[in-house]
Amino acid sequence: MTKTALITGASGGIGLEFARIFAREGHNLVLVARSGDRLRQLASELEKAHGARSLILASDLTEPGSPAYLLDQTTRADIQVDVLVNNAGFGQFGFFAENDLEVCLQQIQLNVTTLTHLTRLYLPAMIERKTGRILNVASTAAFQAGPLMAVYYATKAYVLLFSEAIANELQGTGVTVTCLCPGPTATEFQKRAKITGIRLFKYGSMDARTVAEDGYRALMAGKPVAISGFKNWLVAQSVRFAPRQMATAIGRRLQETGSE
Ligand SMILES: NC(=O)c1ccc[n+]([C@@H]2O[C@H](COP(=O)([O-])OP(=O)(O)OC[C@H]3O[C@@H](n4cnc5c(N)ncnc54)[C@H](OP(=O)(O)O)[C@@H]3O)[C@@H](O)[C@H]2O)c1
Repeated sequence: MTKTALITGASGGIGLEFARIFAREGHNLVLVARSGDRLRQLASELEKAHGARSLILASDLTEPGSPAYLLDQTTRADIQVDVLVNNAGFGQFGFFAENDLEVCLQQIQLNVTTLTHLTRLYLPAMIERKTGRILNVASTAAFQAGPLMAVYYATKAYVLLFSEAIANELQGTGVTVTCLCPGPTATEFQKRAKITGIRLFKYGSMDARTVAEDGYRALMAGKPVAISGFKNWLVAQSVRFAPRQMATAIGRRLQETGSE
């Protein structure tokens, strides 16, 4: 039977590349994001290229009712979600005390609450079927504090720790949970977060396709955590041995503008 992957944030960046990969690998899709037009265009591309069928759900995932809406729509369409890819997320740059509170809270809602909610809604059926895969997209930001993007880094630390914990709880159930940690990646993320000029991105970024391929491979292998790119892996490891205050200070430097 053809499997179905539900991908949040499929209208651009890493999520769009996930959609292309899952379609190439023979999956049908549930595509979720706010931009319905972009999703429709993608669905038509993937139907022509791979014969993939897509259900399009244009939904703002910062709305607290959106996870229940997604479950309702997939249930009504009689779609069994075999793979859940919690990819949608965004960041906000600036001093926490000065940042727009509403945007701070939307970040937590999307990156943390909706991801947790969707996982909780789709997981029981996967456990019952004794098969299923969940891919949660965190970031290398998950490994240290991030001054000037304090809330974003903290949300990604949550995604990593939450994913590792439930991956452990699910051992032996047939359901796997994988947390993908990309480093700087060329997408629309930087523009939305207003961080195009910061040092972190001046040291180079990966392309969304390579990151998504890494995530797909790790998901299929059932790995609990995958850091995309050797340089990113090295940085994430080095943070573990640095004193915490030093790691935070380096994090701040990378978040500031400058070329040296
Ligand atoms: N790019 C990087 O450097 C980087 C590094 C590490 C981790 N990540 C993580 O990778 C994931 C994908 O990001 P990306 O780089 O591909 O960014 P992107 O190009 O900005 O794509 C973000 C996706 O999420 C969707 N989205 C944003 N807000 C949404 C909302 N309120 N409701 C529903 N969908 C929403 C966007 O679609 P609409 O605008 O159409 O809603 C878009 O499809 C995120 O979790 C991000 O934190 C990115």
